Amino acid sequence: MSDQITITIDGRQINVMPGLKLLWAALDNGIYIPHLCAIREEIRPNASCRLCFVEIEGSKHPVTSCTKTVEENMVVKTRSPRIDRLVKTAFELIISDHNLKCNECPANKNCVLQTIAKERGLRLKQKRFKSIVREFELDDSPEVFAFDRSRCVLCGQCIWADRVEAKVGAIGFTNRGIKRMVTTFKDLPLADSICTQCTLCVDACPVGALYYKKDRKEAGS
Ligand code: FES
Repeated sequence: MSDQITITIDGRQINVMPGLKLLWAALDNGIYIPHLCAIREEIRPNASCRLCFVEIEGSKHPVTSCTKTVEENMVVKTRSPRIDRLVKTAFELIISDHNLKCNECPANKNCVLQTIAKERGLRLKQKRFKSIVREFELDDSPEVFAFDRSRCVLCGQCIWADRVEAKVGAIGFTNRGIKRMVTTFKDLPLADSICTQCTLCVDACPVGALYYKKDRKEAGS
């Protein structure tokens, strides 16, 4: 299409629509960049997971591809020693308080953390950072799904689904730093909140935090 612009990612020239964020330009063209928190429709991405770093020719510092808009003749690298280090650190921080018993997880083999680990040659094991195991009560109150906060990666996909797609507003982030979590108003069980149990949040969860009870593994029950 004539109104498209040309950019180069990892040596491959691609035509993309102006205004598109670099992350989506890459993914739409089969070029994988790790990401957890990006939402295509979000105009102001919060870039909280820090997994989508790339290098752009002429830029001194790596940038998050979910916040960077494509520009004509932009030359991008998704891999370099510097990028790999940044992604590895972000990944290790994310898994530092994540329940890593994958074989007990309803999302096992269908989890974005496993996809990223495989693609970047990273291990789903905590080595560099101290593991912080947080004790959470499982919210088993909805009829067909459950919420296991020990597996939540704080990507915000469920909150977007709840607020923007379902237009309910039952869940949101509370607290800061290490205590940050997704919860309902007054931390009520989902079934006692305004949640309509539409399950859009479950479908949006990229890991095993919000899951259908039918997918629950025996050991994790
Ligand atoms: Fe870009 Fe999370 S996808 S920071």
